[in-house]
Amino acid sequence: MINKDFSKEARLNRLKHILSSRQFDLGFLINLYKDASLIADLMQTREGKELLTHVLPGYVLGEMFWQESSRTYHSFAAATKRLGAEAVSERGVKKTRVINGKIVTKWELVFSSETKDAHFEDEVRAWASYYDALILRTAEEGLVARAAAIVDEFGYDVPIINAGDGLGEHPTQTLLDLLTFFQGLKLDIEKDWNKLSKHSVAFINDGKHSRTIHSFALTLGKIFNVPITNICPPGLEMPRDLVAEITAAGCDFKETNELREADVYYVTRLQREYFKTAKEFKEYKNYFSITRETADKYGVKVVMHPFPRSKEGNELPIWLPSDPTTHSISLDKDPRAFYFYQMKIGVPVRMALLKYLLNPHLELKKLQEEKLVHEIKAQCLGCRRIEYREVGWTERAPKCGYIETVGHTFCPSCQPEPATT
Ligand code: NCD
Repeated sequence: MINKDFSKEARLNRLKHILSSRQFDLGFLINLYKDASLIADLMQTREGKELLTHVLPGYVLGEMFWQESSRTYHSFAAATKRLGAEAVSERGVKKTRVINGKIVTKWELVFSSETKDAHFEDEVRAWASYYDALILRTAEEGLVARAAAIVDEFGYDVPIINAGDGLGEHPTQTLLDLLTFFQGLKLDIEKDWNKLSKHSVAFINDGKHSRTIHSFALTLGKIFNVPITNICPPGLEMPRDLVAEITAAGCDFKETNELREADVYYVTRLQREYFKTAKEFKEYKNYFSITRETADKYGVKVVMHPFPRSKEGNELPIWLPSDPTTHSISLDKDPRAFYFYQMKIGVPVRMALLKYLLNPHLELKKLQEEKLVHEIKAQCLGCRRIEYREVGWTERAPKCGYIETVGHTFCPSCQPEPATT
């Protein structure tokens, strides 16, 4: 049943943690995207960027990433900084140890007591004592939910964000994927949410291991009833329990080993790290590579990919300035390519999410009106630094272009020498 009351007041049951895309509903998504769009606008100007640093000043977040990440890690780090908060991070490495006589290879955080055989729950309790929120990417499915359970059980007021848990889910990726989906199809979520079921999506390649597909399929299939086709080599079908869940919600789901027509192609790489042996991985060498010709042939309007795209599988050929043979094949410069957009909106969407979790009652519009009118006092004619009403001239004050709307003077360092007679 879709909740059609989208007002913030109606959303009394706020989400504390972000663990699964099953937690999202239409009201949550619409309100989050309103903030994300305002944030994206504010990020276009220097004043807007400065204003956004007043959303979470003084907050400190912990980013614990057992598995590697470029986009999720850096977009969360950038989002944190841009909101005026700090992030402390810890990364994992793959280690081989002998445990109870058995050789075990697993991901461990580089500088944590995990290497001293600590309980995961104790590590979580420690981080929850120090940070205002925890962003976790784990190699093991379900581990992020275990962190949230211990935090709740022992009364820590610390939101936990699932930044990808093994073969499980990647709900924050779904937030940017869904916004891209609407943008790509030139639809507005608030006005057109019920039109989404008229558009189809095909997930390409690794529906079995791709957690981004798992989370996105739940949202598209259950909330928006988008017809889904999973196009994969035999053996990489989507998990059966997930398929059962979306079909029970009325989603028209198909699975095939051949390319088919769809409005949106959501391409993925083969998730090599989850194949048990190199031999098993090699069996899937000939999976689908999506080119401009493929998009033409199957009537594809929007091409997405959570990235990274792989060099070896070449599922989405790259456009290289130095290699003209790539130009007619690659979709990179084609208007149907939305994967760079998907990447870019990672920051404003994650900023909106952090604001939702940590400072939900702050109204960005009001902050914008108040700050822009009151906070900047003057600009230096010499070095173009800003004088703030509360803190005056600071070394950290940004030097920026000439701002017409504020008064101009000289800062103490640029004050001209009084003329001598
Ligand atoms: C994905 C991930 O880690 O699940 N990337 C991402 O977060 N944007 C997809 C992948 O690794 O293939």
